[in-house]
Amino acid sequence: MIYIKTAEEIEGMRKACELVSLTLAEVAKWVTPGVTTRKLDNVAREFILDNGGKPACLGYQGFPGTLCIEVNETVVHGFPSGYALKEGDIVGTDCVVELNGFHGDSCYTFPIGEIDEKVRKLLVTTKESLYIGIETALAGKRIGDISNAIQTFCEKAGYSVVREMCGHGIGKSMHEEPEVPNFGRRGIGPVLKPGMCIAIEPMINMGSKNVVIERNGWECRTRDRRPSAHYEHTILITESEPEILTTFKYIEEVLGPERMI
Ligand code: MF3
Ligand code: CO
Repeated sequence: MIYIKTAEEIEGMRKACELVSLTLAEVAKWVTPGVTTRKLDNVAREFILDNGGKPACLGYQGFPGTLCIEVNETVVHGFPSGYALKEGDIVGTDCVVELNGFHGDSCYTFPIGEIDEKVRKLLVTTKESLYIGIETALAGKRIGDISNAIQTFCEKAGYSVVREMCGHGIGKSMHEEPEVPNFGRRGIGPVLKPGMCIAIEPMINMGSKNVVIERNGWECRTRDRRPSAHYEHTILITESEPEILTTFKYIEEVLGPERMI
């Protein structure tokens, strides 16, 4: 069943989403060539704990990080490690914070130093597709309308949409109904209603849509090892425009116009 949040619950969601947004901005301060992904994970965990939150991914079904780390061909659920980011890499940092029983979920893919122009285009298009999905999330529309808007936009740009992973409802649990695929037909799926909270998270590949799960059962990469991008916001369906509960504003203040996507 899909929860309709009360005004009080929505306030809780706003606060959790603010904290995850600030956490990713803290991470942004450290995203430079030479930094290890484990360092980024430590920064995120300490910031969340210092601000009264819980790192919701850490220990979730055994996941070993506060952040999911997505370097280059890693699509989702990468582990923090001793890998040092290098010029030309991209890294997605996907984070879920629990604060006072509510969850905020967001992801940003960062360029490391100068990146290939083709890779930058993949990042820009993926981020744009997130906002196109969000614009579509109006009360009375259906989940499939969001899915189709994202898929159409990304495929027109020449990219492919990962099928195995989806966005999701979010609230007192990190993953709630409904599933929010990034591909599919218009007019299908649950009807959107004011008070629903969903996380929209396009995962878009430069090459083919096929992915492989590593032996550890978590880390997911593109089969052709070409890059993949991922941006995510938690949003609230309202009577009018959707309210974007997470924000990239703090991240982009850190990055400045040169480095933001
Ligand atoms: N943002 C991811 C998601 O939407 C976070 C889940 S990672 C996990 O599903 F480790 F917690 F599973
Ligand atoms: Co999510």
